[in-house]
Amino acid sequence: MLKELSIPRHVAIIMDGNGRWAKQKNLPRQAGHNAGAKAVERVINAAQKYGVEFLTFYAFSTENWSRPKEEIDGLMKLLEQTLDKYAKNAEKNNVRLLVSGRKEPLPPSILDKIARVTQATAQKTGLTVNLALNYGSRAELLDAFSKLISQGITHPTEADVQRCLYQPALPDPDLLIRTSGEERLSNFLLWQCAYTEFYFTPTLWPDFSEEDFKKALEDFSRRTRRFGSI
Ligand code: FPP
Repeated sequence: MLKELSIPRHVAIIMDGNGRWAKQKNLPRQAGHNAGAKAVERVINAAQKYGVEFLTFYAFSTENWSRPKEEIDGLMKLLEQTLDKYAKNAEKNNVRLLVSGRKEPLPPSILDKIARVTQATAQKTGLTVNLALNYGSRAELLDAFSKLISQGITHPTEADVQRCLYQPALPDPDLLIRTSGEERLSNFLLWQCAYTEFYFTPTLWPDFSEEDFKKALEDFSRRTRRFGSI
């Protein structure tokens, strides 16, 4: 049945609700993040199955540094392990990994893993997974404006701004999914989501299944996209 659906080329995901999932189960918040990492794997597999070309995950925002140190350390460790795993599995997977965000103040161990995995998967031709890590959309736009100024461009076109984004070659997301019942963008892909369809679900991210992903695709398929036209 999904064969007849119009599949979004690029799906962006705000993975929300890890903390609440853990709290409901009387577990530490880190257990929620660990379960969230498993949901990431499920969605990567589902995206490959349904023919999505690009997946962007909001893994750590520029605002997340205000969380307790213990939680930040746990998240950084989990992200490092995930990057490591992708680097090691690079040979058997056809997934290209990109990482988007400011380098400062990410720990050198993570920066090293990012360099390794992006290099190891650069030539892959299957799904592209873009991890937004220390990412903030306002920071991305400010970085783009600084680049434009340094290039002497005082009256930029949309194409000039696009060229200066962290991932200029990625198409805009067709579909954005946010879990856990929150319905806001939280400084994610503000420029890129100008015409994106939004899908909100009460499901907490660690519970997000292949079936939930399929439901989001089916919902997307029923939308009429007009891009400002009639
Ligand atoms: C939001 O839940 C989630 C995050 C801030 C981190 C997202 C990270 C992961 C899912 C871990 C692994 C990621 C990858 C790419 C391997 P929250 O903690 O804000 O939940 P709450 O709103 O219920 O407290």
